[in-house]
Amino acid sequence: MKKTAFFSLLSSSAVGVVNAVTFTPLDDKPGLIDNGTFGPAVEVVHLFENQPPIGITVGSTGRAFVNFNRGDLPTNPTTVAEIINSTTEVPFPSLEFNTPPEGLTNSSSGRILGSSDTNHFINVQSVVHDAKGRLWAIDTGRPVIDGGDNPPAAPGGPKLVGFDLSDDSNGTTPFKTITFPETVLPALGYLNDIRFDLSPNLTASGEGVAYIADSGAHGIIVVDLGTGESWRHLDSIHATNPVSQFLPTLFGAPTYQASARNPAFHWETVAGGGIDGFAISANGKFIYFTPIASRDFYRVETGPLRVNPADDPFAVIRAVQSVQYLGQLGGGADGLETDDTGTIYLSSPEHNSVNTFNPQTGMIELFVRDPMIAWPDTLSVANDGFLYFTVNQLWLSPVYQNGTDKRVKPFALLRVPIKGGPVLLGA
Ligand SMILES: *[C@@H]1O[C@H](CO)[C@@H](O)[C@H](O)[C@H]1NC(C)=O
Ligand SMILES: *[C@@H]1O[C@H](CO)[C@@H](O)[C@H](O)[C@H]1NC(C)=O
Ligand SMILES: *[C@@H]1O[C@H](CO)[C@@H](O)[C@H](O)[C@H]1NC(C)=O
Ligand SMILES: *[C@@H]1O[C@H](CO)[C@@H](O)[C@H](O)[C@H]1NC(C)=O
Ligand SMILES: *[C@@H]1O[C@H](CO)[C@@H](O)[C@H](O)[C@H]1NC(C)=O
Ligand SMILES: *[C@@H]1O[C@H](CO)[C@@H](O)[C@H](O)[C@H]1NC(C)=O
Repeated sequence: MKKTAFFSLLSSSAVGVVNAVTFTPLDDKPGLIDNGTFGPAVEVVHLFENQPPIGITVGSTGRAFVNFNRGDLPTNPTTVAEIINSTTEVPFPSLEFNTPPEGLTNSSSGRILGSSDTNHFINVQSVVHDAKGRLWAIDTGRPVIDGGDNPPAAPGGPKLVGFDLSDDSNGTTPFKTITFPETVLPALGYLNDIRFDLSPNLTASGEGVAYIADSGAHGIIVVDLGTGESWRHLDSIHATNPVSQFLPTLFGAPTYQASARNPAFHWETVAGGGIDGFAISANGKFIYFTPIASRDFYRVETGPLRVNPADDPFAVIRAVQSVQYLGQLGGGADGLETDDTGTIYLSSPEHNSVNTFNPQTGMIELFVRDPMIAWPDTLSVANDGFLYFTVNQLWLSPVYQNGTDKRVKPFALLRVPIKGGPVLLGA
């Protein structure tokens, strides 16, 4: 019997030749086609005609600030600006503060380093309001040169600069400037994003704490905002490092990197490739984070981070042991942000979307998706019922495109309605 079945199989496949079908294109379509959109309508609220934006912060008074990467290519006089209407940004706090008199780089030691100028902005990567309405800018001290690479920093250049928008200077001069020793921020460190908790019971000074993502040397820097003292945690552990051979897909295109200074095609290393997406939980107890070259999601308890390893020989181990892996993100993320309902918003450049993480269920869900969301970079929850975010086409910049700038102006600030408000810890 088995033999008979074998022969009939053979003869039926021979019959297939007789039934050969001729395909022709139809006008009809399959039942489901991706329309590229999901969730609330996305509004365009500001167009950037010149430079692609990075960071955005919309404060409780409605004042909005933005930062731009800058260096020699392309030339940009401004790295921090205030948005004054739908088309115009003005240098903040002044054009003078954005103009280091001796330039952005310094080659007097025989190699190119970032400027060590502490009193002017060099290349700011993030601007964030704290719970008292003050504006803070973090300067990497590492300008963009040769179309996409950053020379090492010189101490003094990388800094955290605070402006009190309500004091006598009306925010025109900083009330605080904090620099970092090289033991805390190495020359290849890259200050990427920052979150604040001003609760008085957290540090010795009682003036609150800042947590900073170092995407370049891969770690978290903690700062006592009163004393200016800083220390380093999670230094180059798996969770803060880039994943090796990470290949993001943008607008459907798998995207490697290559640039004038690093011409061999390689996997993602932008801004160091490490810990980049960064947000604080609504209760201040966790920092949520992900490296930019990764699809893995983590959180770490802030309590162990606040212990300075100089004061406690077990602090480094305890902080590392308080990292939790939360699973995959379903796509790489750039900026993260929290609202006061506890929701974590996650930008998702690979999917032209913003997702949410719900700490109650532990699940990541699609929140909003739109073809305009061409690399959502930084997210900011405002108190007007909207989540604001910049889109800057980062994967079309020269460092991802073998030295060619393929970005298409203008760039945009977008917003979508949300249920929550800003997280103001220690207000
Ligand atoms: C687009 O598709 C999504 C499902 O992916 C659906 O929720 C939405 O209503 C569709 N939008 C339009 C305009 O058809
Ligand atoms: C924005 O402000 C600039 C500078 O004051 C002004 O020239 C421009 O007309 C304004 N644009 C709009 C749309 O209000
Ligand atoms: C430039 O570098 C020299 C030594 O290498 C240093 O003395 C000087 O302060 C630096 N200037 C700036 C603006 O970085
Ligand atoms: C402070 O500066 C802002 C922006 O330039 C301006 O709108 C505001 O009127 C100023 N306030 C005072 C008290 O000078
Ligand atoms: C600090 O004080 C706040 C408000 O009272 C409280 O919720 C928090 O648990 C305290 N944190 C620490 C580390 O003691
Ligand atoms: C990358 O750029 C270099 C320099 O312009 C060029 O010679 C090379 O052909 C480019 N490679 C690809 C794969 O486009």
